Order: sequence, then structure tokens, then C-alpha cells
Amino acid sequence: MKEWSAKWIRPREDMGDICPVFQKKWNTEKHVKKAELYLTALGVYEARLNGSRVGEYVLAPGWTAYEKRLQYQKYDVTDLLKEENELTITLGKGWYSSNMPGWEMSKDRIRRTARRTGILGELSLTYEDGTEEKISTDSIWNCAQSQIRFSEIYDGEICDASYSVKGWEPSAEFEGPWETLIPQEGEEIREMERVEAKAVFTTPAGETVVDFGQEVTGYVEFTVDAKAGDRIKILHGEVLDQDGNFYNANYRSAKAELIYTCREGMQTWHPVLTFFGFRYLKLEEFPGETKPEQFTAIVVYSNMKQTGRIRCSNSELNQLFSNIFWGQKGNFLDVPTDCPQRDERLGWTGDAQVFIKTASYNYDTEKFYKKWLHDLAAEQRSDGAVGQVIPDYLPEGAPSAAWGDAAVICPWQVYLTYGEKEVLEDQFESMKKWVDYITGATKDDGLWTGGEHFGDWLGLDAPVGSYKGSSREDFIASAFYAYSTELVVKAGKVLGRDVSAYEGLYKKIVDTFRKTYPVYHTQTEYILAIWFRLAENLQKSADELAELIQKDGSQMRTGFVGTPYILHVLSRYGYTKLAYTLLLRKEYPSWLYSVEKGATTIWEHWDGIMENGEFWSTDMNSFNHYAYGAVADWVYEEAAGIHVEEEAPGFEKIYIEPKADDRLEWLEASIQTRKGLVESRWTWQDGRIKYEITTPSESTICIGEKTEKVKPGRYTFWG
Ligand code: BGC
Repeated sequence: MKEWSAKWIRPREDMGDICPVFQKKWNTEKHVKKAELYLTALGVYEARLNGSRVGEYVLAPGWTAYEKRLQYQKYDVTDLLKEENELTITLGKGWYSSNMPGWEMSKDRIRRTARRTGILGELSLTYEDGTEEKISTDSIWNCAQSQIRFSEIYDGEICDASYSVKGWEPSAEFEGPWETLIPQEGEEIREMERVEAKAVFTTPAGETVVDFGQEVTGYVEFTVDAKAGDRIKILHGEVLDQDGNFYNANYRSAKAELIYTCREGMQTWHPVLTFFGFRYLKLEEFPGETKPEQFTAIVVYSNMKQTGRIRCSNSELNQLFSNIFWGQKGNFLDVPTDCPQRDERLGWTGDAQVFIKTASYNYDTEKFYKKWLHDLAAEQRSDGAVGQVIPDYLPEGAPSAAWGDAAVICPWQVYLTYGEKEVLEDQFESMKKWVDYITGATKDDGLWTGGEHFGDWLGLDAPVGSYKGSSREDFIASAFYAYSTELVVKAGKVLGRDVSAYEGLYKKIVDTFRKTYPVYHTQTEYILAIWFRLAENLQKSADELAELIQKDGSQMRTGFVGTPYILHVLSRYGYTKLAYTLLLRKEYPSWLYSVEKGATTIWEHWDGIMENGEFWSTDMNSFNHYAYGAVADWVYEEAAGIHVEEEAPGFEKIYIEPKADDRLEWLEASIQTRKGLVESRWTWQDGRIKYEITTPSESTICIGEKTEKVKPGRYTFWG
């Protein structure tokens, strides 16, 4: 554990909404060999040394279960040092004391919002002559009101660039947390991409709107030539309404507003202590004429490397794939969130669980998830219950099936994709505790009955007025109970633990489930019973499911719980053609419906914008919700056929069985695995299919009836 010589500091008087800036000036007389700055905050900070930004981390120290784990960062600042130095640190509320979540007046929210922010920092200087010095935060550091007059996660930022910082005063030391400090664990959030504005136009309602052509998460950077005191006011939106006017009622209570007071002359600015989800900006106030060149969207997300690529001959599917990647970028800001724009932006466990396989193929997310899973374990309640969101900003929320199961499903997937046991070692106790929680909470042995659940959230077979699909909640809960118990057994075996008790439990759940649920009523019930191998006759159930889907007009009726598995179930049991039919369907409900409506990210609702052009609702209508993007893992695994072998995780061994369809001319997918690049491409050529496969590992390739064991290399087959 790091020994700190520093003190936690904050302004002497609470500045309310105004962001404080701390300042330290000193002269360096000797030659510095190395300068390392350690920093953290209760809140979020931006540090500058001699005017230059320290590091690239945006919204540091990131978002963790702060009361249990608070990350600190270490920056090498040797190159930024001069003889006369000034270090400034601006501090915002960030996730620490923003008004989150926006819709609930919970006691915990009131408690969290009232918490005061502060910083802790230590600059460690090593001189050429071998001596060392530390410059540490203490009451001698200056503190003043910064130009940032307000900053908050949901509501945005207010900056007065015409304000010259004055009234420096000593800071106040306070007893901040020590035991919870940990070195940076996750990926840094960074400015990853820049998207130039595509157009500035006037809407029918007379509003001036900037369009980036792509929904992103981050903030706008604008350049303006202004008079001191000119005001800029910008609102953010994801879509235009059916008349082509600016719309953001779906942000609910999140104001997502920027207010900027100009200084004299040319200036370029972007917010520093908050973020937005947006494609459009409404310029409510903006001096002078506006041109697209004045606006750039800075895209901010966790620094993950892209590993996956999928492409095919159908441009609408390619747009869907693009939307899935953008959905991931937009919701991977240190915590896997449901959405980046409205008054939520929370680490919903169910959404994370649903999307993790796709996410782990698209990007290298091992570090990202490991950090979040440590938070999940830290937040697990004493009875083993897992909150609805992690960090647990809804402590009153009942643990729901398929949400809490993230505790088990996520570590297992990280293990499968990347092949390192460490994640299982770290999470094993937490995984078991979740299963034990269910065992203790259920009304009926061998099942999970009772409790409050989200069911098949947003299922298309939901009764009027409900968000929950028609699948029975006890059914879903019991199916996930079986699945999580099975994974605990598998994980325990990987780790060499005695899991006989869980094996017994698993058998009991399967037996009880079969007796209790001999028939399935909905698509999602079928899907879970088959995918979790609870149905006695899997093929027969799959046949019935296919028939049910066809009877439903070859369309899905599933929600969050059933949708991620539906195509997998179909193609595993001989219905690949039907799986493709669902994937290629353009009418509502379908993945391509939103593409036809111009989506650039994945929508929360299949019909966020309905056929008549109206919005589904203002209440629950995010246009950047990654969950249904989970369909990409079917494209990697079934359409392109790339499967990681469970006994040889991390793509140590690969099973490759591409499944082509004649409605596409070609399709290709690749994953940069820890073993190297695996790539699969198929192309129709004169009525035959050419398969081109590159594998970095020993693989089994299966084309039609033929199965071949191969060494790493490139292969071509004809089918
Ligand atoms: C979120 C979801 C989440 C759900 C729980 C919503 O408000 O946006 O994605 O999983 O609540 O039911």
C-alpha cells in the first residue's frame, strides 16, 4: 500500500456548485531526473502543470464503488517541469456527488449528493544528485473559485471564460479516505476520437442545430470569435422529432446543457468535468454566424483496443454493426452503463451481462471488466445479493434475476475470451455468494421463486402498460439460477476447488425445473430452457420454438433476457435460415428497423421511433442502449463460425463452423485474440461457397459434413 505524505484538501468554505481550483507554485533549483505525480479525488479532477494537461485521463479518478475502492493515478510529469512551476487541479462533482440517479428520491442519493469533494496529491521529485523531495497537498496549497461555475454528470457544465481567477486562499485539510485507496485498475477514460460536424441548419421551428451525423458520447469542442461577455448556450439531443425539430425530452431530468461566457477574441473550448450522449446540438445562444467547422465532437471512452471486426455484403447490416460498436464506445466510460444521455448512465448489471460476449470480442475489455467486477464484489450485500446497478447507487433496489447473475456470467465470459484464470480467482467467492443468496432467498427449494424481478425486460409480448414481457418471472429466475450454479461448478473446477455441493445443487435445480415447468409459453421461455439445457428434449423444444416464431410471423417477441440467445438457439438446432431471416428483417420489430429509421447506435426499444414517426415514449426511450447489440456475438460465432473452445479458453483452441446464407454475397469476421488473429470469411462464387479461414491456434474446422483438425495457418475450403 502506498504511504502518503499528503493530506486531503478542499476549500475552506463549501463553494456549492462552483468548481474549486487548487494551486501550488514552486521553483525547482536542481536538475530533476524524474517527477511523478500521484493524484486522486472525491469527485473528478483535471490537473495542469505549467499550463499543460497532466496525462490523458478524462474524468479521473474514474468511477468505482467509492466507499470501498478509490483509484489513484500516477503520472510521469518529468517533461512538464520548468524552473518556475505551477500545478493547478480543478475539481468537479463527477459521479461522486452528482444528483444520480435522476428519478429516485432515495435516502442514499440525498446522502451522496451532500458529500463534499476534495483532492489528494503528491508530487515525488527525484533529482540528478540522488536526493528526493515531495510536494504534497496540504493546507498551504491555494484554493479559489475556478472558471467552471458548475459541473455535474447529468446537467452539464457552466464556464465563465471572462472570469479571472482571484481570491486565492489556503485550503482546508480534512480526514478523507485512506484504507480504500487503490492504484488505477481499469482502463483510463480518454479522448479517443474526433468527429467533425456535418452540418449546421435551421429547423422548421427556427432552431439552429448542429449535426455530427453520428451519435457519440463525450463533448463538443467549439471555436468562436466573440466579445467578452457573449453567451453560448448549447443543448444536446440524440434525434430530431418527426417534424425535423430539435428533441431531447427523452433525457428526462438530465439538463445536459453547456453554458459558456466568452472572453474577448478567438477561443476554443470544451467541457472538462462532464460528458454527454448526443448527435445533435441546439445552439440556443451563440454569437455570430455558425459554420460546421466550428464544432467537433470529442469522443470519450475507456481506452480499449478494438479487437473485433465484422463486415458483409449488406450495407444495412454493416450499419447495424457500426451501431453496435458505437453503442459500446458510448457506454464504456469506466463502467458498463445502460445509456450515456438521460438521467441514468448507471452500471445496470443486466445490460452488462447481456452484452459482455459481444463486448469482449469487439474490444479488449479484460481490464475494464475486471475492475468493474471488483466493484461488483465490493458492493455485494452481506447476504450475497447483487444490486441492480454497480456501483450500487440503488441500494434499496431488489436483486433481480438475470441482472444479479452478472456476478457469475461476466467473470466466466472474461475467462473464456481471454483465457486467464485470474478473473475467476478474483470473483469466485462473489460468484458463489450470488448463488447462495438465491438459495437463501427463494420460496421454493430448487427454484428461485418470489422476489422482485425485471422479468424479460421490454419483451415485445409485454401486456399493455407493462415493461415486462409475458414470460413468467419465476421461470426466468429459476433458469438463471440453474445457469449461474452451472457456471460456479465450471469455474470451481477450473480453479481446482471442491464444488460437489454446487454440483448437487445444480442437479436439484434441473430436476425441479423440469418437473415444475414441463411446458413453455413464450419465445423467451423456450429460449432459456433450451440455451441453458433445461429442456428434456432440446431438439424437440427447438423445433417448437422455430414453429412458434414462424407462427408469430417470423418475428421476435423477446426482450432483454431472450433476445441475446434467440439466434444462437435457432442456429444450434438446425434453424440457421430462420436466424438469418430474423437478422435480415427490416420491418418492426427487428434490428434493421432502427437502421432504416437512420439509427447510428443501438436503441433501447425496437421502435424508439415508431412507424408513424412518433416516439415510443419520452420516459424510457434511449437511442444509445447497447443491450440488443448482443446480436454481434451470433455473427462472430455462427455466421462466421468462430467459437472459443471452453476447455481451451482464450482461443487456445478454436472451433470454426461458418454458416452461410444466400441472402448475403459474403461475410467476414475477425478477432484479434490473445493467440493472434482469427479470421473467417465466406463468399458465394458461381453457386458455391468459398471459405477462407485464418487461425492462430489448433482448430477444428467444420464445413457442412466435413470436419478437419488443423494447425495454425490459412485455409481455403469450398462448400
Ligand atoms: C435501464 C435498463 C435497465 C432497466 C432495469 C432501465 O431504466 O435503462 O437498461 O436494465 O432499467 O429494468
